[in-house]
Amino acid sequence: MSIVVTGATGHLGRLIVESLLRRGVPADQIVALGRDATRLTALADRGVVVRAADYTDPASLRAAFDGAEKLMFVSGSEVGQRLAQHRNVVAAAREAGVGLVAYTSIAHADSARMTLAAEHRATEEELRASGLPLVLLRNSWYLENYTGQLPTYLAHGVAGSAGDGRVSAAARADYADAAAEVLTTDGHAGQVYELGGEAFTLTELADELSRQSGREIRYTDLPVDGYTALLVSVGLPEAYAAVLADADQGLARGELYVPAADLEKLIGRRPTTLAEAIRATL
Ligand SMILES: NC(=O)c1ccc[n+]([C@@H]2O[C@H](COP(=O)([O-])OP(=O)(O)OC[C@H]3O[C@@H](n4cnc5c(N)ncnc54)[C@H](OP(=O)(O)O)[C@@H]3O)[C@@H](O)[C@H]2O)c1
Repeated sequence: MSIVVTGATGHLGRLIVESLLRRGVPADQIVALGRDATRLTALADRGVVVRAADYTDPASLRAAFDGAEKLMFVSGSEVGQRLAQHRNVVAAAREAGVGLVAYTSIAHADSARMTLAAEHRATEEELRASGLPLVLLRNSWYLENYTGQLPTYLAHGVAGSAGDGRVSAAARADYADAAAEVLTTDGHAGQVYELGGEAFTLTELADELSRQSGREIRYTDLPVDGYTALLVSVGLPEAYAAVLADADQGLARGELYVPAADLEKLIGRRPTTLAEAIRATL
């Protein structure tokens, strides 16, 4: 049996490989993929099979999936190019005849209106049309999206365009453990898991940071154009800034809210909370 993990050079894929190893999956039955296999040498040194594969290169995917029983398909990071890339992944998985594909989608991919959901929705459709046994891991936001910005929040406050919307963020490590669970236990084919942790508003995020830092941190809610302009002013490319501001509008509509039950059930513990993540980061 081999489990192929794409995106293993990235944050989430790497944590999934680690979680599989912790669960006792033999290293030589895990195949870790990245565009640059030299970035996977630390895993290779521990016995994990490493291969180079690029979502834009169908031949590399076919070679990388050879012999795969299960495929952990971590969505790509090049927004706008992902559907074409993901189609190549689905075609190669079909050719390899993998017994299960687990795909990291987005919360409420079938109904969310935010721009970021469109490529996930289309990928889910491609996967369904392939006829491959499929489990959808519809992840809400990572807590790290916020804790990675604590220095900015402490200096300038929290800004966004999310209103009073609640986001069910969990740690990448929680989502990774959920993925490892579906890859190593039976009964997940055909399931759609809406995954996320304890929900909070961005005002509550600012309040928690105020409590823990002893400083008064405020959340400033901006119109979507104003938030896009703010992100551009700090150096984000305009198109990406617009996608992020649009995602906050989705957050405001409840598109990143999910009950914590699915994730908690899969990982057998309470997902990391915002307070814990801020404490660990501070
Ligand atoms: N839920 C959330 O809050 C959230 C936030 C951001 C992203 N995401 C999604 O979740 C995914 C995993 O998150 P992450 O934090 O692990 O992101 P990450 O650290 O940026 O990792 C992305 C991974 O995708 C790989 N990748 C990108 N384009 C590829 C291509 N053309 N061919 C092969 N591999 C490719 C990258 O490989 P290289 O090392 O070669 O670049 C990397 O291993 C992201 O890619 C994105 O789809 C979710």
